Amino acid sequence: MIRRATASDVPVCANLMLEHPVWQSYGYAFDDQCERLNRLFSDRQVLIADNDGAIRGFIVFDTRTLGDNGYVQLVAVDSRFTGNGIGERLMKAAHAAMAPLQRCFLLCTSTNVQAQRFYRRRGYVKVGELPDWLQVGTTEYVFCHYHIQSSD
Ligand SMILES: CC(C)(COP(=O)(O)OP(=O)(O)OC[C@H]1O[C@@H](n2cnc3c(N)ncnc32)[C@H](O)[C@@H]1OP(=O)(O)O)[C@@H](O)C(=O)NCCC(=O)NCCS
Repeated sequence: MIRRATASDVPVCANLMLEHPVWQSYGYAFDDQCERLNRLFSDRQVLIADNDGAIRGFIVFDTRTLGDNGYVQLVAVDSRFTGNGIGERLMKAAHAAMAPLQRCFLLCTSTNVQAQRFYRRRGYVKVGELPDWLQVGTTEYVFCHYHIQSSD
């Protein structure tokens, strides 16, 4: 089931990220990750993929980006359960929660080819690049979906 997040979900979500190879390279500590997620969970909207009390993934989004547009800030699925449609369900739920907005942005690191394919297959197109964004030497690709309410 997809449900709204609460502050008590933060430690499990922090662990889920720290155990994922995509984020391990950043070397974040657990407490710092919890602090980061606590801020995000209070500032943004967050949905959780919950399987009988076990958190399988989560998505963080906002509806006030570059004017009144959607923005998916973070989507993460437990690395033991990727490729099972959980990410797809989280994206669809976030798109539905953004209604009636049509446009949605997100950033994806240039080296994260798997996530880029995931976004492209769901209708996102690359519209720009942000060099030296998260770290000097790494580039974030800017993706946009122009019709999130009609594609799902
Ligand atoms: C990117 C990410 C969110 C995708 O989540 P996911 O749950 O694996 O996504 P899905 O299972 O819905 O889709 C992944 C692929 O599995 C396929 N799939 C979905 N259900 C399936 C099933 N039952 N059987 C086989 N394949 C399936 C989908 O077709 C999809 O293929 P595609 O990417 O070529 O379109 C996840 O891999 C992740 O957390 N990655 C690390 C973090 C990250 O990179 N986040 C994005 C940047 S912030």
